[in-house]
Amino acid sequence: MAAKQELVVCKRTEIAPGERKLVTVDGKQIGVFNVGGQFFALLNYCPHYGGALCRGPITGTTLPTNEFKFVYGHEGSVLRCAWHGWEFDIPSGELLINRKIKAKRYAVTVSAAGDVVVHI
Ligand code: FES
Repeated sequence: MAAKQELVVCKRTEIAPGERKLVTVDGKQIGVFNVGGQFFALLNYCPHYGGALCRGPITGTTLPTNEFKFVYGHEGSVLRCAWHGWEFDIPSGELLINRKIKAKRYAVTVSAAGDVVVHI
């Protein structure tokens, strides 16, 4: 197994909560997301039909409920694929309606100096 690469993608202040930055590493495009001050990285490749997942809207979604009404939640932690609307939980990369389907994700750390580091 190849050793992991550590890639400094930006300073933490460059991606505000609810925002993202797309970076290209070894020909792969990766989206780096700030969800409430925590950083996550996903491959810009949707497991459905290979759409540009990380270019879709960052949003929330309707929550499961036993009542006959819509309840909205998880604002800012859901990524909706721009191609067909599949919704993924950004922190886990999991598809909301089937947690067995996952977008490829990468570990992210933030250094003491405030550098956002993606581990490829
Ligand atoms: S390619 Fe992403 S939902 Fe179809």
